[in-house]
Amino acid sequence: MTRRTFVRHASLTALACRGISAVPTLNPNTLAKFVDPLPIPTIAKPLGMRAAPQDSSLRVPYFRVAMRQVEQKVHRDLPATRLWCYGTSSPGPTFETRTGQGLLIEWANELPEKHFLPIDHSLHGAERSKPESRGVAHVHGAKAPPDSDGYPEDWYAPGKSRTYFYPNHQEACTLWYHDHAMGINRLNIYAGMFGLFLVRDDMEDALHLPHGQFEIPLVIYDRLLKQDGQLEYPVSGDPEKPWVPEVFGDVMVVNGKAFPFADVEARKYRFRVLNASNGRFLHLSLSNGQRFQQIGTDQGLLPAPVPLDRSLLAPGERADVIVDFSGASGQHIVLMNDSFQVMQFRVGPAKSSDHSVVPSVLRPIMRIPESIAVKTRPLALIENMSMKGESKSMLLNGTPWHMPVTENPTLDSVEIWSFINTTDDSHPIHLHLVRFQILDRRRFEPFLYQTKGELRYTGPITPPAPEEAGWKDTVRADPRMVTRIIVRFEGFVGRYVWHCHVLEHEDNEMMRPYDVIPAAAPNPAQSSSSLG
Ligand code: C2O
Ligand code: CU
Ligand code: CU
Repeated sequence: MTRRTFVRHASLTALACRGISAVPTLNPNTLAKFVDPLPIPTIAKPLGMRAAPQDSSLRVPYFRVAMRQVEQKVHRDLPATRLWCYGTSSPGPTFETRTGQGLLIEWANELPEKHFLPIDHSLHGAERSKPESRGVAHVHGAKAPPDSDGYPEDWYAPGKSRTYFYPNHQEACTLWYHDHAMGINRLNIYAGMFGLFLVRDDMEDALHLPHGQFEIPLVIYDRLLKQDGQLEYPVSGDPEKPWVPEVFGDVMVVNGKAFPFADVEARKYRFRVLNASNGRFLHLSLSNGQRFQQIGTDQGLLPAPVPLDRSLLAPGERADVIVDFSGASGQHIVLMNDSFQVMQFRVGPAKSSDHSVVPSVLRPIMRIPESIAVKTRPLALIENMSMKGESKSMLLNGTPWHMPVTENPTLDSVEIWSFINTTDDSHPIHLHLVRFQILDRRRFEPFLYQTKGELRYTGPITPPAPEEAGWKDTVRADPRMVTRIIVRFEGFVGRYVWHCHVLEHEDNEMMRPYDVIPAAAPNPAQSSSSLG
């Protein structure tokens, strides 16, 4: 008889039990902390140069990355864990790219035919008729053409590959890539299918931020492990519908190791922090109470560094931060998530003098004026409950995935999207293709809205926190709040998606296609008459 462990919906609505594990999971307190050095993902290397798709006179680097099953030591005292990844380990290789310099990546599906995590075949797109080991890669935050964006239905089976083109016409930023296969995306990412994609530019280089060995990626996520070190993904208890609305692990993993440590020098470091969790919101701080400076958001540098003692990151969000260890030589500082340990920094003496700087002005950001928005879209976030009060699915604007496109902004136009969150959860909403700015958040009365369609505000207008007031691609739509963003739909015409980045929500209908449509051809008769 197996003991059933309840996994608590830890970060948001307290006490709601959201899933069960069929076997006892590993108690993280039994794992020795800070015994594995923090791994640094390798840098992806091109295999050569190839003609760019739109312009064959242009030669761009060509990479090939395979999706594979691997066995990886996640902790010194655990047997190797079966993972799925890009390349040879999870996280996959980091892409080092530059603004304006395009690249080709061939993403090859070399996964085994069988999935090792519990597929819910009742979810749209994950029917039994579909191959189990579907994959399609998406670079989160990339301004990529639609046929290179990793549309969820563009998945392919083992033995197949796709070559995607990333033009990189965007400013320096911290992007990441991950699987996006319809209906099993949460499982593939949980299995390890993600990595970083950094875009750099001359303007950022000129700032002389810490770089080289002093610039360190921290890809942070939570997992449940079985006693034997294998991944545990909780299920509902209904074998026909194993989907659970959220997954929270108690083992914190950074760059592929559980509770690692890093030897650092007493000087400034730049950390590219990514929350790659399925559902956990991170509240990061340093155990010695030390402050740090956030210099960038999802889509690049902030106008000025923002001093923080705590960083809140929803799934999918990134923070570019500077930590100055110069006063901390000899200290062991723990990176905390709330009151839980994540990893340790062992501060040794500086081996050379620190010439890096954190300028007080980073990159100007023009606020997009609300007055130029051609449209405001009210978009309700809704949780569908069963009679028993269990979550059945989450919907964007009450509309499931397969319904016709309802959001169809015109290329280069500016729109305001207003997320009306009627639920008790915070939903990190992500739009593909674009970057946006947060306008504000405001509390409202959800019951009145859901019963009468009346939007009554009950709180003041709150501007974004300073560390959110840059370019974003993912925004927290907090519970019982209206969150407004302003977006210019630049780059490409075509089909993209927007979705919640809590992966369990995304896989159960909290995702919608959207179209960027071409601007109507100017009507010559009309323009001449307006001139006359
Ligand atoms: Cu992180 Cu649809 O993406
Ligand atoms: Cu994305
Ligand atoms: Cu959500």
